[in-house]
Amino acid sequence: MAINEMETVAVIGAGAMGSQIAMVCALKGYSVILNDIEEDSLTKAKESLKGHMNRRIQKGKLTEQQVEGAFGRLTFDANLASVKDVDLVIEAIVEKLDVKRELFATLDEITPDHTILATNSSTIVSSKIADATTRPDKVCNVHFFNPPLVMELVEVVKGPHTSDETAQAAYEFIEKIGKAPVLLKKEISGFIANRILGKLMDEALFLLENGYATHEEIDTVCTKALNHPIGPFALMDLTGIDVNYFVRMQRYQESGNESDKPAKIVEEKVEKGDLGRKTGKGFYQYS
Ligand code: NAI
Repeated sequence: MAINEMETVAVIGAGAMGSQIAMVCALKGYSVILNDIEEDSLTKAKESLKGHMNRRIQKGKLTEQQVEGAFGRLTFDANLASVKDVDLVIEAIVEKLDVKRELFATLDEITPDHTILATNSSTIVSSKIADATTRPDKVCNVHFFNPPLVMELVEVVKGPHTSDETAQAAYEFIEKIGKAPVLLKKEISGFIANRILGKLMDEALFLLENGYATHEEIDTVCTKALNHPIGPFALMDLTGIDVNYFVRMQRYQESGNESDKPAKIVEEKVEKGDLGRKTGKGFYQYS
């Protein structure tokens, strides 16, 4: 399908990422279905998006008409069968391979043949998912950054199964929604930003767990000496400590190396439900 013919988008998973990805697309004129298995996630997504949009209206970044128009194009729907007529699906559900594969197999059954199925996974390459469908040529990664309403960069990743046409369509779609795509011509787990970031996180956790400094001090070094806008612990709180846990678990399952296992402190926080900003507590406390 040519990019200029793409009109309707479904975003599956109305969490931190999916809700904002859906809003970005709706703001740029696409008809969007935001789907989640949990009604509660959809309710929370709507409330959260209203808050974000109201703040943008107050700051003069968007007009009331723009926001009204976008909400008019955005449907919150817990019934997956509703996504049957879309041109593009962006999956942003939990970072678990088997759950994603199951979803893609279902999407393959219910969407038309031309529909592109993209995953927003922060680390899983689409070749691990594409063979759950009968259209691997139409499967790729589109990796947004958190928070999608603000962050411009999106990594588009072409797997060995992805057709040139699909990679090109995904790339152009990202441009159309006002984001800056970077195309990875070959797939690699974690893509570019998270591979580099992963090394930084691992080192920060090593320094913390071995008592070299506190998380605040390590964050201060990164912001003040390395000029990072935010330190690694504040960033883990922002992205969700559970995301770091799943990424390391995935790596451990692939490599079998004990050193790839999630850091103890990360495991403890996930067990306690201290997942960062989204739960009000992570490495830092949030009101
Ligand atoms: P989240 O936990 O905030 O939201 C996930 C949502 O998916 C939940 O509302 C859940 O109810 C829903 N869900 C789970 N299984 C489902 C299914 N089978 N069908 C429909 N909905 C389902 O997760 P978050 O942080 O938004 O992450 C989503 C994806 O985006 C993950 O693959 C993650 O790796 C990726 N990602 C996350 C980033 C982050 O900073 N949090 C950044 C970039 C990518």
